[in-house]
Amino acid sequence: MAAKRKVARIGILTGGGDCPGLNAVIRVVTKTAITQHGLEVFGIEDGFLGLIRNRMRPLSFDDVSNILTVGGTVLGTSNRANPAHFATGNAADGKPIFEDVTNRVIEHITDRQLDAIVCIGGDGTMSGAASLIERGVPCVGVPKTIDNDLMHTDLTFGFTTAVETATECLDRIHSTASSHHRVMLVETMGRNAGWLTLHAGLASGADIILIPEIPYSVDIVSETCLKRSRRGKRFTIIAISEGAKPKDGEQTVNKIVHDSPDPIRLGGVSTVLAEQISAKTGLETRATILGHIQRGGTPVAFDRVLAMRFGYKALELLVQGKLNQLVVLQHDDIRSVPISDVADQQRIVSCDHPLLAVARSVGTCMGD
Ligand code: F6P
Repeated sequence: MAAKRKVARIGILTGGGDCPGLNAVIRVVTKTAITQHGLEVFGIEDGFLGLIRNRMRPLSFDDVSNILTVGGTVLGTSNRANPAHFATGNAADGKPIFEDVTNRVIEHITDRQLDAIVCIGGDGTMSGAASLIERGVPCVGVPKTIDNDLMHTDLTFGFTTAVETATECLDRIHSTASSHHRVMLVETMGRNAGWLTLHAGLASGADIILIPEIPYSVDIVSETCLKRSRRGKRFTIIAISEGAKPKDGEQTVNKIVHDSPDPIRLGGVSTVLAEQISAKTGLETRATILGHIQRGGTPVAFDRVLAMRFGYKALELLVQGKLNQLVVLQHDDIRSVPISDVADQQRIVSCDHPLLAVARSVGTCMGD
């Protein structure tokens, strides 16, 4: 297909759950492509869904002006549209029928004469990109997610903003917990990775931090609350990941999104644990689930700059013909790794991560 010729027209899409900083990438890629390299840019709507349904539009310099500070994505996104595994309908029993619609996607890419696609997303989006690459569509990836769980990058953009948001919420819970002498649980997102909870928990001085990587003991958590109470500390703040689970127990599933390639949506563990702590200790407990608040809003300055560094590098790779790479941050250097190295993998907190030692050094209970 057209990929063999010099890159002249590119597509750009944002896939998976949104996060602050997506527009910063769209802006830098589009502006640099047009002004520095004379490329044409097509904005693909709603992630891979736009490629499947042939929904894309040319992007001009003006189209991407004034979006740097805006949360979300002006292109829209979808976390249910992997071309290699796309729900095209329902069987008689109501279960979705998945099909490989990559041929359709390639037809649309060829019709629009796109030479390469910039895919901004997490592990699911990189998995979609990897299947396009296998079929000869050149792609370059940019790592986003509030979960910070992509392999080979020290940071994804969006994470730092989400940490700020979760920290502010935890700080606010602190004052009401203290007034009412309650055990307050604050549930953060992050899927199977505890990065968001660990960072926000540390930053807000949470007394207990529970992450998916360290299964918790309900007895130890309850005893910690009681000990604080006996010492005259009449409240306890617990930062808990949506993916946290008890020892010998399972994660709490909020819903199954049947037509999604990654159907499990976690959520609700804080409510379950709040009841258990209350029953064991007699202390008054409340749970707050932060949910999608963590994904919304304007990106913090750090994420804007990181998003711009990533987007700039992605375009540099494209024009240099270094395709099928994901841009990454390693030791404050923007580098790249093959997209196939990160697709469908998650980077979780290792049990010897230095931040765990920091948390424990100030007496934070990790639930174990
Ligand atoms: O991957 C980002 C994320 O926000 C996770 O932290 C969370 O588990 C999931 O997406 C929620 O997905 P949805 O927007 O489909 O509810």
